[in-house]
Amino acid sequence: MAALSRERAVAVIGSGAMGAGIAQVAAVAGYTVCLYDTRPDAVAKAISDIAAALNKLVARQRMDAVACAVAIARLRAAVTPADVAGAGLVVEAIVENLEAKRALFAQLEGIVADDCILATNTSSISVTAIAAGLRVPGRLVGMHFFNPVPLMALCEVVSGLATDAAVAQTVYDTAAAWGKNPVHAKSTPGFIVNRVARPFYAEGWRLLSEQAADAATIDAVMREAGGFRMGPFELMDLIGHDVNFAVTQSVFNAYFGDPRFTPSVLQQEMVNAGFLGRKAGRGCYRYDDGAATPQA
Ligand code: NAI
Repeated sequence: MAALSRERAVAVIGSGAMGAGIAQVAAVAGYTVCLYDTRPDAVAKAISDIAAALNKLVARQRMDAVACAVAIARLRAAVTPADVAGAGLVVEAIVENLEAKRALFAQLEGIVADDCILATNTSSISVTAIAAGLRVPGRLVGMHFFNPVPLMALCEVVSGLATDAAVAQTVYDTAAAWGKNPVHAKSTPGFIVNRVARPFYAEGWRLLSEQAADAATIDAVMREAGGFRMGPFELMDLIGHDVNFAVTQSVFNAYFGDPRFTPSVLQQEMVNAGFLGRKAGRGCYRYDDGAATPQA
C-alpha cells in the first residue's frame, strides 16, 4: 500500500477551523489542495489564515521561505463543488450533521472519479451510516484529525462496516505522509479519543453545576495537578461548544441514552447564547483582546 500520489489533488470541503488545518498540512506535504465552502468568504479566510500561519513559521526560522511560498501556491479556491472533480481524495469537514454529510457525499459521487477516496473528518457520527447511502460505500472512510490540525499528530482512520481495507490503508499512509501519527479504528460512537474524553467534559460540567469550583480553577487543577495539557473548559472553548455539544449528543444517542453520556444543560445554554468559545470571542472564558479571561 502507498499514500495518495502527489500527482492527485486533495479537496477539502468545509473551510472552517478543521478544513483550513487539513488543507495546510496537505499543502505543506506537497499536495495541491482545493478548498470549497458554501460560504466563499470562509475559503478566502482559510487561505489567508494558512498563509499567515506559514509565514509566521518562516519568521521564526521553522520553515524555509521558498517551501512556504510553494505550499501557499498549492492552495486553490473552488467556487462550486464541481471544481473538485480531479481530486484523488476528498476530505469533508462540514457541519457535524448526518443528513448534511450524506447529501454532500451523494453530490460528490456524481462529480469525482471512481477511484477518488471520500473521507470524513466527523468527530462522532457513524462512518457506516454516512457511507450507507452511497453508490460505492466502500470508498468512504473516516479521517479524523484533532484541533489544531497542524499541531496535533494523531489521526484516527475510521473504518465503517463497508469500508474497503485498501481505502483505509491508503488514507492511513497518506496521513503518515502528511506527518501525522495515524491509528486504525472501527466506527464505534466517538471512536477512540472522543469516547474516552466524554467523562472529562461531563465531570467538568457537573463540578461547575454543583459549584465545586469555577471553570478557571477546574482547568488549572487539571493542568497543573492532573497532567493534562488543557483543562476541560479551555479545551471545549478551543473545540467550539457547538461542535463539542453535538458530539456529546451524538454519542449519547448512539448508546441509546446511556446516562453516562448525558449532555449538559449548561453547555446547551452556551450554544443557545452563541457563546461558542474562542471562535465567537466568548465561551467559558472571554477573548476580547485575544487572551483568555475568566467569566465573571
Ligand atoms: P466550522 O464551523 O469551523 O467549519 C465548518 C465549515 O463548513 C463552515 O465554514 C461552513 O460554512 C461549512 N459548511 C457547512 N455546510 C457545508 C456544505 N454542505 N458544503 C460546504 N461547506 C459547508 O467547524 P469545524 O470545527 O471546522 O468542524 C468541521 C467538522 O470537523 C465537523 O464534522 C466536526 O465534528 C469535525 N471536527 C471538529 C473538531 C474541532 O475541534 N472543531 C475536531 C475534529 C473533528
